[in-house]
Amino acid sequence: MPDQHILIADDETDIREMLASLFEEEGFRVSQAKNGAEVLAEVKKTGKDLDLIMMDVRMPDMDGLTVLKQLKDSGSGDIPVLIMTAYGSSGVTIKAMQQGAEDFLTKPFDDPDAVVHKVNRIFEHRNLTKEVADLKSKLTAEPGEKIIGNSGPMQEIYKQIGKVASSDATVLISGETGTGKELIANVLHSTSRYSRGPLIKVNCAALPETLLESELFGHEMGAFTGAAKMRKGRFEMADKGSIFLDEVGEMTLSTQRKLLRVLQERMIDRLGGTIPIKIDVRVISATNRDLEQEIEAGKFRPDLFFRLNVISIHMPPLRERKDDIPLLVEHFLDKHRYTQSSPPAHISREAMEALLDYDWPGNVRELENSIQRAVVDARGGTLTSRNFNLSGKRERVNIGSNNAFYVDQLVNSRVKLEQAMSSFEKMLLMEALRQSADDEEAAAEILGITLRDLQQRIRRHR
Ligand SMILES: Nc1ncnc2c1ncn2[C@@H]1O[C@H](COP(=O)(O)OP(=O)(O)OP(=O)(O)O)[C@@H](O)[C@H]1O
Ligand SMILES: [Mg+2]
Repeated sequence: MPDQHILIADDETDIREMLASLFEEEGFRVSQAKNGAEVLAEVKKTGKDLDLIMMDVRMPDMDGLTVLKQLKDSGSGDIPVLIMTAYGSSGVTIKAMQQGAEDFLTKPFDDPDAVVHKVNRIFEHRNLTKEVADLKSKLTAEPGEKIIGNSGPMQEIYKQIGKVASSDATVLISGETGTGKELIANVLHSTSRYSRGPLIKVNCAALPETLLESELFGHEMGAFTGAAKMRKGRFEMADKGSIFLDEVGEMTLSTQRKLLRVLQERMIDRLGGTIPIKIDVRVISATNRDLEQEIEAGKFRPDLFFRLNVISIHMPPLRERKDDIPLLVEHFLDKHRYTQSSPPAHISREAMEALLDYDWPGNVRELENSIQRAVVDARGGTLTSRNFNLSGKRERVNIGSNNAFYVDQLVNSRVKLEQAMSSFEKMLLMEALRQSADDEEAAAEILGITLRDLQQRIRRHR
């Protein structure tokens, strides 16, 4: 690409020189800066002639985020900035994207072609659209929770979060169980302009239809048997904040219809109520189902899907980003210590290899549980593969399409048999009803029981 001018800022001479010669060879004009002050000075001097700044986040005098901010404050915020991070910590990356960085690169650069490609892509993108200016966020909120992971797929997730943080758009987070959907929802809320309001969570799988609807929309006194008092719904509670609709794929078609109306009109009707109530709520939802498949099967409304899925974030399963395992293990060893005063446990190399080998059907949650159990099992000593139970011989129970749990995990968490059987029964009932689109007769047939029996069981769970 001819005659584009790039400023390369890094305190390490080797990296600066390497990048400079790389881009000069590609025909770019290149300037260099070795600290934040030089970046600002160069921008002041060269002004509009600069087409891109490639900048390290860690520089001795001023970190890259501060420079980004100053550039913006001084009215030079429209020069695209490509941030370079040494070990792309999620916090810094999200922040940089939020503050309007165009993209980021992780050092060391193993593949110079990829670096050049990324830069070219930025220029192409710039030429195609000016929308990037909108991505710049006015937000200063810190991401509330730590997301661990530095793999390619996670870096994409950070970029997406950074970009949607400043928008009010409805976000649908998909992904298998335990991949961190709720964690992402928390971060989306805490980085949004709704972060001063509450984040209200509703698990749509946990309640039968009427209760869920009253939970979501509230009810007036006497709206149904047992509604002795007026009750505000979660949408009302979430006003000026966010609502997180977890397992949104489990809603019945009738509840879906009501939800659609709320999203379209930004108004709710309490059950039994007559006056609609206006609400200002950011909606974030999550599902471990493939909703497009559910639409095909007639179990999910396409119009609702499009409302929920304005922005979609797909959490990749852990087996597709195994590079993250060592960082996650380190994080969980630090989090789950043997006693409060114990140092983080060590893990043997051979155990780490076993963890890297394993496929993690329960994803990050399963990894976290395994670490926590192994620490107890090893009584705070070094963890070996014997402290883990990853042989693949574990009894696994599958429910629905994407949910699974391990029996040993349940027993380890001191589950009570009666309670477990009852929850399991409920899950089976719900899944059968879902698969039969709420046709009770068909559900009874699936489960091999009579209709009467099915209805009795459903009643018990209510
Ligand atoms: N990238 C991550 N870094 C740190 N912790 C994580 C990460 N991903 C998930 N976790 C942790 O793993 C556990 C499961 O995550 P979370 O509840 O967000 O998953 P989920 O996708 O909502 O699962 P489900 O579909 O089963 O509800 C939580 O304790 C969460 O903090
Ligand atoms: Mg969840």
